[in-house]
Amino acid sequence: MKIVIINGSARKGNTLAAINAFIKGASEKNEIEIIEPDKLNIAPCKGCGVCQCSKGCVDKDDTNSTIDKIAAADMILFATPVYWWGMSAQLKLIIDKCYCRGLQLKNKKVGTVFALYNIRKTERRVWSSMGVTLYNKKHE
Ligand SMILES: Cc1cc2nc3c(=O)[nH]c(=O)nc-3n(C[C@H](O)[C@H](O)[C@H](O)COP(=O)(O)O)c2cc1C
Repeated sequence: MKIVIINGSARKGNTLAAINAFIKGASEKNEIEIIEPDKLNIAPCKGCGVCQCSKGCVDKDDTNSTIDKIAAADMILFATPVYWWGMSAQLKLIIDKCYCRGLQLKNKKVGTVFALYNIRKTERRVWSSMGVTLYNKKHE
């Protein structure tokens, strides 16, 4: 299976540590590629909508080559530090840019990695709005 990991952190910190643990377990049987938005030149989506009637994004930057990789993957792992109760701007940037090829991303396997400081203060309703159910009894 082709797995693409979108690393929403610019640091060699907790998100990367979790990604590396995932890779350790998954690399033997899968082909893995990491996308690092922080190292790419990608303009934010302007919502122009041109992509909906053409083949891709009109931006002449790294958008289309990045979305090509995501569209070719069987699984996408979204990895992010929690910034102000949500995902980082780097991850959101890529997700917004997927709008140009949204239908090609249907039915893929997905996984999520969140690195955060305070799971108690990052309230339960925030997790549920992100589709996350917390199972760690220690934090209930
Ligand atoms: C701008 C900013 C906002 C943050 N907001 C939150 C937050 O809402 N909840 C939380 O638990 N941690 C928050 N943190 C802490 C980070 O999520 C935490 O340190 C995380 O482990 C960092 O991941 P990294 O090492 O991959 O950068 C924030 C950190 C920054 C820099």
